Formats: sequence, structure tokens, C-alpha cells
Amino acid sequence: MTLRLDRILPICLILDLMWQLLALDDISINLNHSGPVIESHQYRLQCHIPNVVQATSVKWYKRQSLVYQETLSGNSKTPELTIVPNRTDDGVQYRCEAELNVGLRSSKHISIQVFYVSITTVNHTGPVIESHQYRLQCHIPNVVQATSVKWYKKQSLVYQESLDINKTPELTIVPNRTDDGAQYRCEAELNAGPFVPQRLKQLTSDLLSITVHFKPTINGTNLPTKVPVFRGYPLVLVCEAEGNPKPTVSWSQTNPAVNGGNLTITELISQNPVCTAINIVGSTSRNITVVPTEDYLPLIAGLVAVTVAIISVIFVFIFSIYYKTAKTGHYSLKDAKPSPQNGNIAQNGKDNPLHMKKLSQSDILAYP
Ligand SMILES: *[C@@H]1O[C@H](CO)[C@@H](O)[C@H](O)[C@H]1NC(C)=O
Ligand SMILES: *[C@@H]1O[C@H](CO)[C@@H](O)[C@H](O)[C@H]1NC(C)=O
Ligand SMILES: *[C@@H]1O[C@H](CO)[C@@H](O)[C@H](O)[C@H]1NC(C)=O
Ligand SMILES: *[C@@H]1O[C@H](CO)[C@@H](O)[C@H](O)[C@H]1NC(C)=O
Ligand SMILES: *[C@@H]1O[C@H](CO)[C@@H](O)[C@H](O)[C@H]1NC(C)=O
Ligand SMILES: *[C@@H]1O[C@H](CO)[C@@H](O)[C@H](O)[C@H]1NC(C)=O
Ligand SMILES: *[C@@H]1O[C@H](CO)[C@@H](O)[C@H](O)[C@H]1NC(C)=O
Repeated sequence: MTLRLDRILPICLILDLMWQLLALDDISINLNHSGPVIESHQYRLQCHIPNVVQATSVKWYKRQSLVYQETLSGNSKTPELTIVPNRTDDGVQYRCEAELNVGLRSSKHISIQVFYVSITTVNHTGPVIESHQYRLQCHIPNVVQATSVKWYKKQSLVYQESLDINKTPELTIVPNRTDDGAQYRCEAELNAGPFVPQRLKQLTSDLLSITVHFKPTINGTNLPTKVPVFRGYPLVLVCEAEGNPKPTVSWSQTNPAVNGGNLTITELISQNPVCTAINIVGSTSRNITVVPTEDYLPLIAGLVAVTVAIISVIFVFIFSIYYKTAKTGHYSLKDAKPSPQNGNIAQNGKDNPLHMKKLSQSDILAYP
């Protein structure tokens, strides 16, 4: 019996092909980790190609798109792809595709689940308004073993709750102006199952910053409600308001109306200007009563001058009387020595014996 090559060759080829097809089923992809991956951590995907077939290149696909491609050298090693999944990669599918000597073959898909924690405001976007109530939610997908959730504002723990797997953890907040720019975050405490290394027991969400809008308030410190204004002396009233967004300040009930916080007041202006501060949240006004006031300074100066004049006149008058009296005393010493009582009567008839006595004594000393 002779072996006919033309009969054996096809059989060999068929056997070889069958062998290769069996082998091709073994192209597989796996992750160097089981269970959900943790966001922002590094993992490795591996593409296993049986040694019996020769691969020339390998391509990596994420969803439908090629993410990486490499040419393989002769010595067989397991092609790898390093990935750092984030939350947008949750549920994403990877596969590898190898160019073999028998053609292109692909692995099955592997889909990855990602552990992450996210914080959101319920049914609200954009700035919050002071004194209104809002709800924050902490989403912890792919976690069936979290035990508790902690809520932080800035660096401080504001609330802590144990996790009910059927409920999304929530925090109710009523922000005020001091909370503008505050950052919230939530943190899930995972029950360290087989998937979670001890050091990754806590998963923290990103930071949620809140902008707090609030109604203007007018600072009354420099703006009393009653303002005296002296005739002829203009005054500037400064109306300052605080609010977020920054309020627009204007004066009304004046003629003309004034934009801005500075109002120059003269006695001619309306006596009840109103300062209004307004922003998208609301408005606040402050009514001012202008009290026109006479400038008493010239009057007072006049009065003082007149008083001084009168006093001077009186003084001069009194002095001249005393001067005369002193002369009289001088003469009467010559004629006759009068008793002090007589002297007093003779001098001016005033009812002040002691005073007069003193004066007459000094007269005597002055004019011996
Ligand atoms: C998986 O591979 C990554 C990247 O090389 C490595 O950092 C990580 O420790 C590996 N994980 C496991 C469970 O081996
Ligand atoms: C997530 O990763 C993809 C690439 O894998 C990147 O394009 C995207 O910006 C990342 N998203 C975030 C939120 O980091
Ligand atoms: C959020 O708004 C949607 C419709 O806009 C509503 O169906 C839903 O009940 C709201 N959710 C909460 C928690 O208020
Ligand atoms: C603002 O809220 C904080 C608590 O969130 C409170 O401690 C503070 O007193 C509040 N400030 C005002 C002005 O209401
Ligand atoms: C009002 O203005 C005064 C002086 O400018 C300032 O000291 C004070 O802090 C202000 N008050 C408020 C509530 O802004
Ligand atoms: C208003 O007056 C204040 C204080 O006198 C001054 O600092 C400010 O610049 C003035 N503002 C305007 C718009 O003139
Ligand atoms: C302030 O003035 C406005 C306009 O004149 C008036 O409508 C309002 O009642 C006044 N408010 C107060 C508190 O006096």
C-alpha cells in the first residue's frame, strides 16, 4: 500500500484546521481582579492566546472602539492592557482581538463594574437660595455591602447614618449666607468583603460646592433713618447693601432718581428719600427722613458777641462808678471820717455791706 500524498495532505490540513479552531476558542480576556473595581485605581486586562497558534498582533477594544494595539514578537507573552477606570466606565465592555496565522479572532466581552460614590443635589442645579431647603443625595452604585454613610461640610462631619440598601442616603440642608462656597461630600464605609482591600474601606465622593444666593440687606451702621441737614451744607448719604449676587443700589423719591448708593442731600431735596437694593433673590429698602435744620452757628456767634458787648458795657459802667466812689472816698477822708455804714450808703445804696466794706478798705489803702 502506498501513501498517496494528494490524499493525505487534505486530511492533514483538515486536522490542523480543526485543531486551530479548537484552540481559537481559548482566546480569552480577563481582569487581574474579581468583582467591581474601585474608581481611579489601576487594573490589568490580560488577553490569553494559546501557545499553539501564532499571533502577530493584538487589538484592545473598549465598547466598539479600538483603544490600544500592539505587535507581538515571536516569543509568546500574555498581552496586557492597564486601565484606570472611572465612574463613566461603569458597565463598560472590553474585548481583545488577535491577528493569528489563521486569521482574526476575538475574545468574548468582559464587562467591568466600578465602585464609586457620587454626591448630587436632588432636582436642582445651580446656586441655592438662602433659607430654602435642599436635599443632597449620596449615590453608591455596585455596593451591596456598605455599612454607613457620613456627610461632611467643609472638613466637619455633619451627619452620619447607617445604610439602608433600599434607600438612597440623603441630607437635608437649609443654607444661609455663611455657607456660600461651602463644599459637601459624602463618604461610604464599605463592609470589607472579598473585593475590597482593607485600605479601601472608605470611598469618598467628589466635592459639591454650593453657591448661596441671598436677598440684599442694607447696612444701617452708616445710614441712620433720620438725617439732620443744615441749610447750605450739602451732605452725602451712602447706602451700602450686601447680597449675592451683588445688589444694585438706587435712590428713589428724589428728583431725579439716583443710581448708585451715594445721594447728595441739600435742603432742597425731598424729605423722604428711599434707598433700594435689589438682586435676583429680592429687594430691600430703607426710608430716610431728612430733617432740615437751621445752622445756629452764626446765631450763637452773634449771641456770644452781643453778650460779650453787654458784659463789657456793664463792666465799664461799674468800673467807672467805683472809680468815682474811690475819688469821693479820698475827699471825704479829708472832710470827715465817715463810719463804714455811712460810707456804704453814700457809695451806691446797694444792699451789700460786706462787699462794699471791702471795697472801701481797699480804697483807703489805694488812696491814703
Ligand atoms: C492588578 O494590576 C494592577 C496594575 O498592574 C495592580 O496595581 C494591582 O495590584 C493588580 N491587582 C491585583 C488584585 O493583583
Ligand atoms: C473617565 O475616563 C475617560 C477615559 O477612560 C476620560 O475620557 C474621562 O474624562 C474620565 N472622566 C472623568 C470624570 O474623570
Ligand atoms: C424631581 O423632579 C421630577 C420631575 O421633574 C419628579 O418626577 C420627581 O418626583 C422629583 N424628585 C424629587 C425627589 O422631588
Ligand atoms: C448659618 O448656618 C449655620 C449652620 O449651618 C449656623 O451655625 C449659623 O449660625 C447660621 N448663620 C446665620 C447668620 O444664620
Ligand atoms: C456695616 O458697615 C460697618 C462700617 O462700614 C461695618 O463695620 C459693619 O461690619 C457692616 N455691617 C454689616 C452687617 O455688614
Ligand atoms: C460713594 O461714597 C463713598 C464714600 O464717600 C466712596 O468711597 C465711593 O467711591 C462713592 N461711590 C461712588 C459710586 O461715587
Ligand atoms: C417707605 O417709603 C415708601 C415710599 O414712600 C412707602 O411705600 C413705604 O411704606 C415706606 N416704608 C416704611 C417702612 O416706612
